[in-house]
Amino acid sequence: MASMIFTDCSSSTMSRLIHLDRRNGAFLPHPCVGQLSLRTTASGRGCTLSIRSSSSPSAIVINGKAEAKKIRDDIKIEVSRMKESIGVVPGLAVILVGKNEESATYVRNKKKACESVGIKSFEVGLAEDSSEEEVLKYVSGFNDDPSVHGILVQLPLPSHMDEQKILSAVSIEKDVDGFHPLNIGRLAMRGREPLFVPCTPKGCIELLHRYNIEIKGKKAVVIGRSNIVGMPAALLLQREDATVSIIHSRTKNPEEITRQADILISAVGKPNMVRGSWIKPGAVIIDVGIKRVEGRFVGDICYAEACKVASAITPVPGGVGPMTIAMLLVNTLTSAKRIHYFQSSSDLKG
Ligand code: GUN
Repeated sequence: MASMIFTDCSSSTMSRLIHLDRRNGAFLPHPCVGQLSLRTTASGRGCTLSIRSSSSPSAIVINGKAEAKKIRDDIKIEVSRMKESIGVVPGLAVILVGKNEESATYVRNKKKACESVGIKSFEVGLAEDSSEEEVLKYVSGFNDDPSVHGILVQLPLPSHMDEQKILSAVSIEKDVDGFHPLNIGRLAMRGREPLFVPCTPKGCIELLHRYNIEIKGKKAVVIGRSNIVGMPAALLLQREDATVSIIHSRTKNPEEITRQADILISAVGKPNMVRGSWIKPGAVIIDVGIKRVEGRFVGDICYAEACKVASAITPVPGGVGPMTIAMLLVNTLTSAKRIHYFQSSSDLKG
């Protein structure tokens, strides 16, 4: 991308606008709204907000927080059914190396989410200067531990460690992050099925499904090519029959490419980089970026501007973030079920 934009792009009209929180029906301050009506989708799994504005068009707010709550509620039921039927409690082990504050927050949130649904969590915190062998020793121990069904090594790892070696050491049957080369390789290949799909991109696609947003045949653009989000998101969109372009740091005129996108996923962590003028009218926007700016969380997308152009958009916070954790819980439950040959009772997706 030729230039990175960090400006505050908020509109002065923001304070006049309202947002419908679907969980409790309360109206909250939100920059994205005109007139709202709520409609349940045919599948009953999600609902569509029909929005009309008296002045300018406004996007539907894709409420990841509410969808994640529904998913957690379903998981909680499944976890207790599993415990009652076969006496097995799904377990997730998390390895955190170093004192990266963002990583520590993610790990804390993952642990809290596990507790909320009855998944047992195991946490190992290692010093920044720990050796690779130490991390590998814990990975190996969790691989052999029958009470652990999912293993997550929080990234990034300190620079003296070989990330590939450590991620490759995780048993593919417990690779709930989907980062093992075999799982990623299968994701990239036609006719192959990974045992797990990385949680953030999986959460993005789940949101599109839950809001009945058609992917097949659409032009999708992903900004960012990280192993954690951008690359697997592009692979997933391709598996859903979208025509996919990837924008990265060397892409010339990124806005010309984003303007063609029916679906735009941005995962670069550059606050407000994508302006309203980068967006095709009616596009669906999934904002994975999240950075703290002057005490507020801000995404990659200039939200106030995007709301006037897009047909639907994820907010930051409350969009993709909660879905990432929900997908980690789904993957952990799926793993425990697979290991113990326990049948699914619901339509929870693995
Ligand atoms: N760091 C940022 N996101 C993730 C994730 O989804 N999994 C792991 N293991 N590390 C991360």
